[in-house]
Amino acid sequence: MKIGIIGVGHIGKTVAQKLSAAGHDVKVANSRGPETIEADVLSTGARAATATEAVSDAEVVILSIPLDRIPQIAPIIAGAPADAVVIDTSNYYPTRDEKTEAIEAGQVESLWVAEQLGRPIVKAWNAIGSGSLTHHGKPAGTPGRIAIPVAADDPKAREVGMKLVDDTGFDGFDAGTLAESWRQQPGNPCYCTDLTADEIPDALANADAERAPKRRDLAVAAIMERVGDPRTNPGPEWGVRLSRALFM
Ligand SMILES: NC(=O)c1ccc[n+]([C@@H]2O[C@H](COP(=O)([O-])OP(=O)(O)OC[C@H]3O[C@@H](n4cnc5c(N)ncnc54)[C@H](OP(=O)(O)O)[C@@H]3O)[C@@H](O)[C@H]2O)c1
Repeated sequence: MKIGIIGVGHIGKTVAQKLSAAGHDVKVANSRGPETIEADVLSTGARAATATEAVSDAEVVILSIPLDRIPQIAPIIAGAPADAVVIDTSNYYPTRDEKTEAIEAGQVESLWVAEQLGRPIVKAWNAIGSGSLTHHGKPAGTPGRIAIPVAADDPKAREVGMKLVDDTGFDGFDAGTLAESWRQQPGNPCYCTDLTADEIPDALANADAERAPKRRDLAVAAIMERVGDPRTNPGPEWGVRLSRALFM
């Protein structure tokens, strides 16, 4: 598929590498211009572009930027074909993002994103840590393969998201509609805990909207105590142990 990826940080870079390696035609963009995109992002065939170029003829647009930058990028996403599937990886972290009153008041993050963009989205790759995404992908059918929840209102768009998740080395798990996608937000049992498709249903059922934000903030505090820099992500083993202890 023709895929435009905006944001090539911890998550976007790995998604770009894996989807190019799987044979997709991938263009990648950041906020600073194609010349600033590092060579390893392009090592499996992705091409550097401006954000406008990346989305202009895309069948799928993947957004992997901090949630509070979504409004900035909305005019560019409006230039994507009307039938392009837009997949968003973002999560709200009030310690990183500008305070967003609607989300603080309980609006589901993916619905806020869709509202800012003025078009439906698919929510995917938000609930896996960058260490696991980079190192723990496996071929389809491997016992114990990690699953990633994928939510969307349009079943066909959700299918596209699940297929692309599969192409990155993980089982795409059908997590239902965007209204239910609060269950895969930070602080909930399926968030960054590397569960299999058999384990995700219980985790989604045990999500707790009231406690999740407190647990999310506890995890940030523990990561800061450990690594001391909010831009450094924990390695997969420690990160998953921490998420399991706090969120499950
Ligand atoms: N890190 C994780 O483990 C993880 C896991 C799951 C989901 N997520 C979520 O996925 C999203 C990305 O996270 P990340 O950790 O990959 O972030 P990151 O490492 O900080 O990278 C952010 C990327 O977004 C680009 N960007 C920022 N503003 C932009 C704009 N206005 N236009 C175009 N590009 C822009 C940045 O490009 P420039 O440097 O050029 O600005 C950079 O390439 C976040 O919402 C995060 O919560 C993260």
